[in-house]
Amino acid sequence: MAFLKPKEDTAVQVDFDNLPRHVAIIMDGNGRWAKRRGLPRTAGHAAGAETFRTIATYCQKIGLDYLTVYAFSTENWKRPLEEVSAIMGLLKKYLLESIEKMERDHIRLHFFGDLSPLPAELREMCDRTDAISQRYDGMQVNVCLNYGGRDEIVRAARAFAADCAAGKREPAALTEEAFSGYLYSAGIPDPDLVIRPSGEIRISNFLLWQSAYAEFYYTDVLWPDFSKEELHRALAAYQGRSRRFGGV
Ligand code: IPE
Ligand code: IPE
Ligand code: MG
Repeated sequence: MAFLKPKEDTAVQVDFDNLPRHVAIIMDGNGRWAKRRGLPRTAGHAAGAETFRTIATYCQKIGLDYLTVYAFSTENWKRPLEEVSAIMGLLKKYLLESIEKMERDHIRLHFFGDLSPLPAELREMCDRTDAISQRYDGMQVNVCLNYGGRDEIVRAARAFAADCAAGKREPAALTEEAFSGYLYSAGIPDPDLVIRPSGEIRISNFLLWQSAYAEFYYTDVLWPDFSKEELHRALAAYQGRSRRFGGV
């Protein structure tokens, strides 16, 4: 077994041969991080985007199969237009850069969420990124953009109802597995571990269906300050849990 002791915290031991397959992160706390530094909230989002890059690259390096990150929720449109525009601008910038880097890192980027209300240029970039990703077989990163767990479930129900109306499906024959196939996460295993930085202890409409049996890890660290060491702590906590899935 490969054990690693980060210098910063010798109490943390991660078994890298026994990692969760799928980690999901609610990237929260960008605004407070900026406020503490007397910076505009948008500076926090820029710092958060850098953290995402670092953590995603590290997750690929240690061999995770899936990383799902919450980047923009269906509720985040309530924010001031200026902040929403800045986030969209950062996403565009990040995607442009990652299209170049994906070839090197073989990280596959995929999107969960209704992309139709996004600026056309960003939407086009998401489609391009998705298409390029099909060629690789590395870790898959799912970026949740205009994503809401309830919205996802309603859309799935609608799509299923449409299939029933078209005679392709039978309502009485619907199973949990078949319903999962209508979600953005179709074909992807459920997250094993959901991490939320920033001290908030809530799910905020993230992966409601998929996290039915996920382990949760909360930390007060704000997302822009989230480090590899913090990820080690989360992984070690996960490895110390006993998952029973309702059994004994
Ligand atoms: C998370 O950081 C990023 C998005 C929701 C887009 P916040 O912007 O929510 O940061 P806080 O919670 O205000 O600190
Ligand atoms: C959740 O954070 C959404 C993302 C990180 C994208 P929020 O900051 O929007 O969540 P609440 O409002 O604190 O629940
Ligand atoms: Mg927040």
